Amino acid sequence: MKKKVVSLMLVALLALSLAACGGSGSSSEGGTDAAAEGGSSAEVANKDKPLVWYNRQPSNSSTGELDMTALNFNKDTYYVGFDANQGAELQGTMIKDYIEANIDTIDRNGDGVIGYVLAIGDIGHNDSIARTRGVRKALDTAVEKDGDIDSTPAGTNTDGSATAVKDGTLEIGGKTYTVRELASQEMKNSAGATWDAATAGNAISTWEASFGDQIDIVASNNDGMGMSMFNKWSKDNKVPTFGYDANSDAVAAIAEGYGGTISQHADVQAYLTLRVLRNALDGVDIDTGIGTADDAGNVLSDDVYVYNADQRSYYALNVAVTADNYQDFTDATKIYDPVSNQLDESAHPTKKVWLDIYNAADNFLSATYQPLLQNYDDVLNLDVEYIGGDGQTESNITNRLGNPSQYDAFAINMVKTDNAASYTSILSQ
Ligand code: BGC
Repeated sequence: MKKKVVSLMLVALLALSLAACGGSGSSSEGGTDAAAEGGSSAEVANKDKPLVWYNRQPSNSSTGELDMTALNFNKDTYYVGFDANQGAELQGTMIKDYIEANIDTIDRNGDGVIGYVLAIGDIGHNDSIARTRGVRKALDTAVEKDGDIDSTPAGTNTDGSATAVKDGTLEIGGKTYTVRELASQEMKNSAGATWDAATAGNAISTWEASFGDQIDIVASNNDGMGMSMFNKWSKDNKVPTFGYDANSDAVAAIAEGYGGTISQHADVQAYLTLRVLRNALDGVDIDTGIGTADDAGNVLSDDVYVYNADQRSYYALNVAVTADNYQDFTDATKIYDPVSNQLDESAHPTKKVWLDIYNAADNFLSATYQPLLQNYDDVLNLDVEYIGGDGQTESNITNRLGNPSQYDAFAINMVKTDNAASYTSILSQ
């Protein structure tokens, strides 16, 4: 009896070790079969290839609710962006700090009301919504709607009666000041492109004609629109203008009176965008070269990003860029030192990636993000095809995803955050 048990156990052990010695389909965890078997992309179904959403998080553009179906499209699907709320809070505080530090000169017409105008990027984009809320919260002009700060554009608010905002008060040096959002609008052009810099340039001309020296501050959901208003009007009129993104031209303008901007650590985001694809293609743990050093020594410290496993999302952390520290941010396209080491081609062979930029005319994406991606694709041995969209229609981009079988992985930047299925339906075919 005893003997029989022992020999049965031996048989079982033998079977186990045989299986471990590489029977069929032993793809390592997290990897695609093609990577594990060293085969070509044609062997992996498009629906199983690594996919990263970036810059626009799959979500409901009215409620902000995450689209978990898109975020869980397959086991190698992720989102890369940045912490929108932390950044929005920073932007609001940066403006408030500026007002406090310059209270003696800020109120240009001396009427006791600190007036600001606000350029809104896209009323359905969670980054834009967060930034509008952040500014209103810090400047005490926020009103609540459905349990959160209302981010609706105020339109024109000459006398403080707009319903999306209220007149705020700031106590500075023992004195009480009124703060008013004089005007705000979504910067959307007639063709439908949002975050539109040219539209913001036109808006500041209209606003200055109606408000003149009531405008003490210009705030913007991004630098593209902020710089357009700065160049058109605020630079000459010495009105501090605040944006977001830390594009190189905006950082340089701080020396000429641009009030400040926020770095969303695009250098870390662009790396993560391609890194998660590289890891999935290599069939290694997703944390490789992120929280855990890779074989080339690339690693990120946890003060520059957070990973939320439930949301399948990596978020870079933001940093305020002002007159105090802008010298450190002058080149927005420089890759981040701790993750700049070249991967070895024999261990990480070249793979093909399809990547789109939703709007080729978007300042941040074209002047900062894409150059960074182009630097990292070399470091990570990825052969990336860059597709530039028109910023208005999803089909303009999806039409150019005609042959997904040619690629090993995909990086997607949607026109509208609701539209993930326009892409996943192509990959599922
Ligand atoms: C950036 C904006 C950009 C937008 C495009 C945001 O994260 O801050 O500058 O226009 O993304 O989706």
